[in-house]
Amino acid sequence: MAETHDYRRYTRAARAAWNEVMPLHQRAARARLDQAFLQPGHVRLDEDTRRALERAGVSGQAVAHLCCNNGVELLSIRNLGAGRCVGFDVSDLAIDEARARAALCCIDCEFVHADVYEIPPDYDGAFDRAFISAGALGWLPDLPRFFARAAALLRPGGVLLIREIHPVAEMLPFDGDHELDPLRIHEPYFVPEPYVEYGGLDYVGGTAYESELPQYWFVHTLGDIVTALVESGLAVCYLEEQPRDISAGHRRQANSGVAIPLSYTLLAKKAC
Ligand SMILES: C[S@@+](CC[C@H](N)C(=O)[O-])C[C@H]1O[C@@H](n2cnc3c(N)ncnc32)[C@H](O)[C@@H]1O
Repeated sequence: MAETHDYRRYTRAARAAWNEVMPLHQRAARARLDQAFLQPGHVRLDEDTRRALERAGVSGQAVAHLCCNNGVELLSIRNLGAGRCVGFDVSDLAIDEARARAALCCIDCEFVHADVYEIPPDYDGAFDRAFISAGALGWLPDLPRFFARAAALLRPGGVLLIREIHPVAEMLPFDGDHELDPLRIHEPYFVPEPYVEYGGLDYVGGTAYESELPQYWFVHTLGDIVTALVESGLAVCYLEEQPRDISAGHRRQANSGVAIPLSYTLLAKKAC
């Protein structure tokens, strides 16, 4: 088992990895996203995420987005009628981009540069909803510590909403692995050590590059996730598995005609 208590080692690596790739994402999409959000009320969320947000209820609610990257989803949530919106991310460049877009498009969202494990206690109890979305949990080595922090951010009765890549998708080949059968299990479900990769994060521009430092990716099973949530004092109140690919890497499976769980939506509530 990885030394998950040493989470800073991994979050430092995540910061470097995301600061390295953000210029590639920005070159491919920044201007287009700015233009899109200059349209009043623009929303850029997939159908299942919109349904999940409707189920959780965000209208007028204070929302924290943990691992918010360039802020596109949180700006959308604000445009759907949420109240105070605060995004947290460890990548300096992602937060700079999110802040610049919010200012350019006059959308009232705050973006804070922070490791989610170390969000300042001033934010405790400040939110009705906390949101975690595609490709965030895999960067986090210590789920119990993370969910404890997320639960502390919520007010009593607040809801944590997770819209994530299904761990079953992690077992199947990526679209780029053309030579592998997309419907054949390629990796185990139980992966106690993080995968170590160098590059491969430019799913926006599609550039291949070799990263300077290792990137660590943790595969958490659904059991790990639910147990860590429950132990952090949150009550799981909704869990739906979906065949939609939100990883940007499993389109072959999504289009195969075989119904495979590729993503999921989970809601967990803090006691009143
Ligand atoms: C795949 S992106 C999330 C993408 C987001 N769902 C979206 O579509 O824009 C993962 C994000 O997690 C952030 N991240 C990774 N580890 C983190 C940590 N310990 N604290 C805060 N943010 C972290 C990265 O900087 C990156 O922006």
